Amino acid sequence: GKAPIKVVLTGAAGQIAYSLLPKLLDGSVFGADQPVFLGLLDIQPSMTMLGGVIMELEDLAYPCYAGSVGTTDPAVAFKDADVCVFLGAFPRKEGMERKDVMGMNVKIFNEQGAAVAAHAKPTVKCLVVGNPANTNAAILLSAMGGKIPAKNVTALTRLDHNRATSQLAMKAGVAMTDVAGVFIWGNHSSTQYPDVRHATVKGTPALSVVDAAWLEGEFITKVQKRGAAIIEARKLSSAMSAAVAIADHLRDWIKGTNGRAVSMAIFQSEGAYGVDSDICYSFPVTCDQGEWTIVMGLPIDAFSKTRMDATHKELKEERALAEELIKPVAIN
Ligand code: NAI
Repeated sequence: GKAPIKVVLTGAAGQIAYSLLPKLLDGSVFGADQPVFLGLLDIQPSMTMLGGVIMELEDLAYPCYAGSVGTTDPAVAFKDADVCVFLGAFPRKEGMERKDVMGMNVKIFNEQGAAVAAHAKPTVKCLVVGNPANTNAAILLSAMGGKIPAKNVTALTRLDHNRATSQLAMKAGVAMTDVAGVFIWGNHSSTQYPDVRHATVKGTPALSVVDAAWLEGEFITKVQKRGAAIIEARKLSSAMSAAVAIADHLRDWIKGTNGRAVSMAIFQSEGAYGVDSDICYSFPVTCDQGEWTIVMGLPIDAFSKTRMDATHKELKEERALAEELIKPVAIN
């Protein structure tokens, strides 16, 4: 059979990983004939928990499981990695300063970026999920010092994309598969812009099928604030839906989307839609043979432009704050 690929999760003992791991081993992401060896990175206080997770991985008795290594050492975890998913981060908690949180993340993603550059395969595909995901991805890419191509570093906005698609389908009273062309622009934060101006419901423009006032008001805020609403209700951030979105992102990136457009936060250097090249901004993309391509030429009206600019501005500010805090690390 095929040689195993190595898939690395940071924050492997956490709640997203717990929902994600079975999906990475059930054949739906990498293929039923593709064995997967797991690099599971976490910090010392989570190692006992991680040991339990590894027992459960064995107990799945999934044919794709080719073994795992649980470790606190990034060099061991990232060694020869094909795919890395970054779940471990330092999210902002009540009463914390934005700058302090960013400082913690700069440290984590600076170290991990250097470790990926030094130890992973040069073709490694990276997906950053831990918040602030887009800016953590920018720190990660900087720390890689050009060893990994920028096109291989992405952040997750697929959960937002799925949320927006689902909200539109429910409002229109149609099946999920009847909705196409809903996109997320910008940051995975409350400034993100869920755009339905190119969306269709059973092939008809969404704006002519669904109440436009709802689409331009409540719909946008609902998607933007969904993460917070889930934390409010669960006292934990979304994990089940995040895990499914991660699997969707990886599967589509690796296996392709057959022309269907999805949302991915990426780095581009063509000035697409006026976006800077050093920020990780969510765009509509199609994927083919392991490469994404931005959907170009979509008409952008004033309503969209204002919102795309606002989330762009926030990302530039986050990046500037992160840059102030970046301390260069040696790559060996
Ligand atoms: P969690 O708190 O359950 O797990 C996080 C894990 O990361 C813990 O096991 C912790 O020990 C580990 N960790 C912390 N620092 C680490 C480091 N330096 N290296 C390796 N591991 C480290 O969190 P959960 O619920 O799994 O969420 C993970 C992240 O994903 C959070 O930052 C959350 O805000 C974010 N998130 C992002 C979403 C998106 O759409 N982009 C959606 C949902 C959550």
